[in-house]
Parts: sequence; structure tokens; C-alpha cells
Amino acid sequence: MRLDKYLSKALHISRKEAKELIREGRVKVGGKTVRETDYRVKEGEEVEVEGKSLKPKEKVYIMLYKPKGYLSTTEREAKYPSFIEFLAEHFGHRKLFSAGRLDVDAEGLLIVTDDGELTHRLTHPKWKVEKEYIVELDQSISAEDLKKLYGIKLEKKPVQLVKAEKLSDNRVNIILTEGRYHIVKRLFSAIGYTVKELKRVRIGNIKLDENLEPGEWRELTEEEVKKLKKLVRLL
Ligand code: URA
Repeated sequence: MRLDKYLSKALHISRKEAKELIREGRVKVGGKTVRETDYRVKEGEEVEVEGKSLKPKEKVYIMLYKPKGYLSTTEREAKYPSFIEFLAEHFGHRKLFSAGRLDVDAEGLLIVTDDGELTHRLTHPKWKVEKEYIVELDQSISAEDLKKLYGIKLEKKPVQLVKAEKLSDNRVNIILTEGRYHIVKRLFSAIGYTVKELKRVRIGNIKLDENLEPGEWRELTEEEVKKLKKLVRLL
């Protein structure tokens, strides 16, 4: 692998930044300073930056607070920007995708990764991974109507609803184990309510970090990645 690519993967920096590090003479390979950005790092060769040894990370796992007005897909759609804009500078060299969609007018937790198997398991209904949302409705909801949610079928299939709990007059906490298109909006629409605001606050055992503002992100800790993988039996 080219040295600039290797550094960009290991340090989550752009190729440009990696090239600068190399040109500034801050990078050693096999104990010798290398200033050629296209130097080919061979298997087993030790790369050091300012005396610290590196290993490129295999996969990355990120939690991002998607703001409203952003797509949760990476395709370029002229009308709206993609969540990837928040990550492009750091992770431009990786093919990242979101594990689960979130509508453009919704906000909240995206788990972003280049781990395809984890993504598949977090999103496939078979694995029954919970997704938790806070919903704001156009009107106050009665306990009776809330109960009706449990019997709703969409496309003739029952919605995999775990829990719907009233938080205040028109706010509801809802937990589902599936992610069909517009599922929360259609669920409430089926009982005569309109979803005004939708925020995802949890996927499986990962909660949206309260310290993150819309548009901010952080990598999942090793501990969080482990427990997430355990949840879907990848560990
Ligand atoms: N349900 C919806 O209606 N929209 C989302 O973005 C997620 C779940």
C-alpha cells in the first residue's frame, strides 16, 4: 500500500495531510525516514510517525448526529447534501455507509461504518435490533389511540413494534425492530396522526451521545463496538 494511503487510513487524516507529514520528514519506515509519498509499504514493515508505531485500522465505526436536511445515503442528490459531508475530510478514503436509513426531515443517530456484515445485521429484521425514536405529533394522543399502534399492519405485515410510550401530550417514545420505508410516519398516519418531528436516539445498545450536537460525530469506543457486535452475534 502507498505510504500516504497507509497513513491516511491509520490516522484518519486526508491524503493531503498524510503527504505533508511525509514531506516534512516525520515518517519512518523500517527505521528510516521516507520522504516519497508514493513509497510502497511492504507487508510487515513498521511505519512510525514521530517515533510512534502505527497499524491501519481494519474498519471504522462512527456515531453521527444527523441533522435535518441531510440524506442518510451517500448518493449525490442535488436537492440535499449527504451526511457523508461531515465525515469526508477525515474518512474520505473509506467507503462508508449508514447502517439504516433516516429520512431527510428526521434527525438523530446514524451508525456509520465500512463493516458490511455489521450493517447487514443491524438493519435486517431477522436480527431484531431495536431502533428507538422520539416522535412529536400534530396533536395530543390518547392512551386508547396509542394502544391501537400495536395492531397495525403495513403491506399486510404486522409492524415489529416493541413499545410505544407517551412522554407528554403529543410526544411519544417508540421502539421498533424493523426499518421499513417511512415506518414510524406511516404507523402514526394509520391511526390518524401526523409526525411533525422524528429523532432516532438509539440503535441496539448504542445511544446517541448527549454531548453531540447535530452534525457532530465521534468514533465508537472499542467497548461499544464489542457490545454492538455481540448483540448481533459477530463476537
Ligand atoms: N420511520 C420513519 O418514518 N422515518 C425514519 O426516518 C425512520 C423511521
